[in-house]
Amino acid sequence: MIELKHALWELEKVSDAAQLENFFQIYLGKKWLLNEEFKLLVALSPEDKKDKGAKLSDLKTQLTAAYEQKQNHFMMGQINQQLEKDPVDISLDIAREEWSYSLLAEVRRDAEDICKSMWFIIEYGTDVVTKFENFESVNIPLTHPATEMHDTIYLNDKDASGENLILRTHTSSMQNFLIKKYGLPLKAVVPGRTYRFENMDASHDTMFYQMEWIVIDKDISVAHFKEMITKLLSALLHKNVETRMRPGYFPFVEPGFEIDVRYEVYNKETEKKELSNWMEILGAGMIHPNVLKEAGVDSTQRSGFAFGVGISRLAAVRYGIKDIRYFTNGDLRFAKSFA
Ligand code: PHE
Repeated sequence: MIELKHALWELEKVSDAAQLENFFQIYLGKKWLLNEEFKLLVALSPEDKKDKGAKLSDLKTQLTAAYEQKQNHFMMGQINQQLEKDPVDISLDIAREEWSYSLLAEVRRDAEDICKSMWFIIEYGTDVVTKFENFESVNIPLTHPATEMHDTIYLNDKDASGENLILRTHTSSMQNFLIKKYGLPLKAVVPGRTYRFENMDASHDTMFYQMEWIVIDKDISVAHFKEMITKLLSALLHKNVETRMRPGYFPFVEPGFEIDVRYEVYNKETEKKELSNWMEILGAGMIHPNVLKEAGVDSTQRSGFAFGVGISRLAAVRYGIKDIRYFTNGDLRFAKSFA
């Protein structure tokens, strides 16, 4: 019978994958030693058969385990050697094939391209801002309910004046900064993450993407805004939209508007085109004199408009998605089905 000790000693001497394969063939392969011994069992008496059979099984188990250990050792050695030579395995195609832009990124990129073609400055700003930037600089008094902990996410870290920093609740927090940085006339757009202390559901998330447009110059009027918003929304929603303005309240604009859109849809039942319902899409308004003043602009000489839109709202209308959580759950099947 094969001696375990001897076999292990042979295995010990094995120094590469080819030798290991050889060892396997000799000891554990179908035609070789161990199998031959099993074959010989047939000729034995029942008792001997049982006794020798058990010993052989035991031998096989031990030898297989030792063999597998050695095999792993070689495999790991090979992988480590490869990694040392080339830490990035570019032969891994999965990484390149299995990707897709998020639909939110698609919409944001489109919006940025349109804005660049109209010579808008694009600034992302930071997610962490001061209370001044997020609230006071845009005419929201610190007594406003939006500043409460149940609406805004506060950090333990403090700013220079000892106030807790916060995660920006809207991209309007960049208005003051942009006016001061670039001066006037100003055409700027701020795409970025914003955060609110929300209960998550099909249309709310604690983190969401907004995009803010801000235009300030001499004699800028609501007419400029209305023209721009209709063209921009048609381009972004991939539909010819009609826009409607309703009065809306935001402390940083006066007057303030809510903008609704509607567009032609195909009714499958009547097989006719019809107009969709009006759908609220964004908040806007003429920049409040206090906001201009805070940034050092004479509001009797200059005026402007601003509007802010949730990118997921745009994407939901563009692609007909009912639940915004699809945009961020990372399911490639979802993202790719729109590619
Ligand atoms: N900041 C507002 C919001 O987050 C949107 C807005 C931007 C409204 C600019 C008016 C002007 O809801």
